[in-house]
Amino acid sequence: MHALVVVAHPNSGSFSHAVANHIGQGIEDAGPEHSFELADLSEEGFDPRFNQDDIAAFEMRAPFPDDVLAEQRRIDAADTLVLVFPIYWWSMPAILKGWIDRVFSNGWAYEDIDGEKVIKKLNHLKVHLVAIGGAGLGTFARHGYFGAMNLQIHQGIFDYCGIEVATSELMLLADGNDPAEHLKKARNIGAAIPAKVTRPELEMAG
Ligand SMILES: Cc1cc2nc3c(=O)[nH]c(=O)nc-3n(C[C@H](O)[C@H](O)[C@H](O)COP(=O)(O)O)c2cc1C
Repeated sequence: MHALVVVAHPNSGSFSHAVANHIGQGIEDAGPEHSFELADLSEEGFDPRFNQDDIAAFEMRAPFPDDVLAEQRRIDAADTLVLVFPIYWWSMPAILKGWIDRVFSNGWAYEDIDGEKVIKKLNHLKVHLVAIGGAGLGTFARHGYFGAMNLQIHQGIFDYCGIEVATSELMLLADGNDPAEHLKKARNIGAAIPAKVTRPELEMAG
């Protein structure tokens, strides 16, 4: 099993990075046949701005730009995606939203047939989400922010492309939560990821 662990935080010393690294360690704990690549979008300088070339590709008038193709290739190489991100304005940060806007495009992630039918093209993939927030659980509960975010991300993005949301975790740093406990949980999430992948060859091997 190979996972692409995407982290979307500008600071490599961030808690988001620590969580992503612990998930990676967990994947490695699960056995030497399991691997991961860390995609640090800020560090790699991914440009999240949807541009004219992206529109041309979206409308299937031109091939995808090279940087988008490179992202699609590394997703193609993975069985599982893991997205780790700080919550900004009750949603994902702009760099991650732009990564999805540009990479999960018409013709590759799904195909819009004459505006009448949508073919989901990423049914082989699973995704694990870890959203990290600064607010307390009471604020999330009072306004229904986690449910709103999940509806948009789970259904609006991943289900649209056929990707199963395998786990979705909210990690809050307020309310006296111990960051070390979150990191322990992150490692456990990573260790459990391979078992959630049901590629035919893995089933046969098992
Ligand atoms: C621009 C911005 C918007 C934010 N919006 C939210 C928010 O809507 N809800 C929330 O719980 N925390 C919000 N936060 C707090 C971040 O989620 C929190 O600082 C981050 O997850 C903690 O990780 P870090 O210390 O590694 O940055 C926001 C932070 C920034 C910088």
